[in-house]
Amino acid sequence: MPKRTGLVVARTRREARDWHKSQHAAGKRIAFAPTMGALHDGHVSLIKIGLEKADAAASSIFVNPTQFAAHEDLATYPRAEENDLQKLEAAGCSFCYCPSPAEMYPAGDSTRVMVKDLAHILEGEVRPHFFEGVASVVSRLFLHLRPDVAVFGEKDYQQLLVIKRMTHDLGFGIEIVGGPTKREADGLAMSSRNAYLNAEERAQAVAVSRVMFTTAAKLEGGEPIRAATDAAKAELLAAGYASADYVEARRADTLAPFGAETCPVGTSGRLLVAARLGKTRLIDNVGFVRR
Ligand code: PAJ
Repeated sequence: MPKRTGLVVARTRREARDWHKSQHAAGKRIAFAPTMGALHDGHVSLIKIGLEKADAAASSIFVNPTQFAAHEDLATYPRAEENDLQKLEAAGCSFCYCPSPAEMYPAGDSTRVMVKDLAHILEGEVRPHFFEGVASVVSRLFLHLRPDVAVFGEKDYQQLLVIKRMTHDLGFGIEIVGGPTKREADGLAMSSRNAYLNAEERAQAVAVSRVMFTTAAKLEGGEPIRAATDAAKAELLAAGYASADYVEARRADTLAPFGAETCPVGTSGRLLVAARLGKTRLIDNVGFVRR
């Protein structure tokens, strides 16, 4: 492995503890952006936000087994550690935690963190194991690294809300910050899983963001929710998507349904989309406010 000057790579919780202690002893505040690797500009943008909020930026690369169901892509999830570490160093990140599964989940491990309600709708309904895995690993990462600020992408909007809820409920005392979604030139949200798309699928993939933006504009104009989201699902199927898991307009703060035929004027909404293209599952979301 090439020698690095600006980035410390740690593999154990002990090394992580030594690092956060040294930073805090020097009076530095730590911002942390956890990842599963295969980094793109969306991940890098979170490091940059972290550096605006604190003195030192830390990241982690850990493909977390507990957030994958048996039939999902844990074995094939893209891994590119050396490349990732170079990107982190170039972004000004000073520490990266790359634990082994045994370091995160010691032999005999039997502790999990479960967030109720919010974690059981939308993504939680389609992937029932998912948020328990995310909350369990993020709480451990928080304990191993003791950041002052943690940055999560709005790309995974429900995950951001689940982490905020958990952080508040467990009293971690960490400020949770959301970072805007970074997109490719055609609008497709950047994602490590975009690497699964073949050339034809990549061309079709853009429909998810195109349909999402046009649907959000309809909702802002007062079109009935059901008509707008049903049309969006039909457009995704027409664009080559195999299925749409959901296209839902919800309250931005709680993800609760509006409970009305149209979105109420002035209330912040979030339009959330999950759809399958070949073997790849894509998710995206955008904020809107009815005029
Ligand atoms: P991962 O998918 O690698 O994403 C790591 C972080 O990058 C998350 O906060 C995610 O929302 C953010 N992100 C992904 N794509 C983005 C984009 N296009 N623009 C801006 N931010 C983006 O999310 C996870 O990993 C895991 O669930 C994790 C939180 C690390 C727990 O295992």
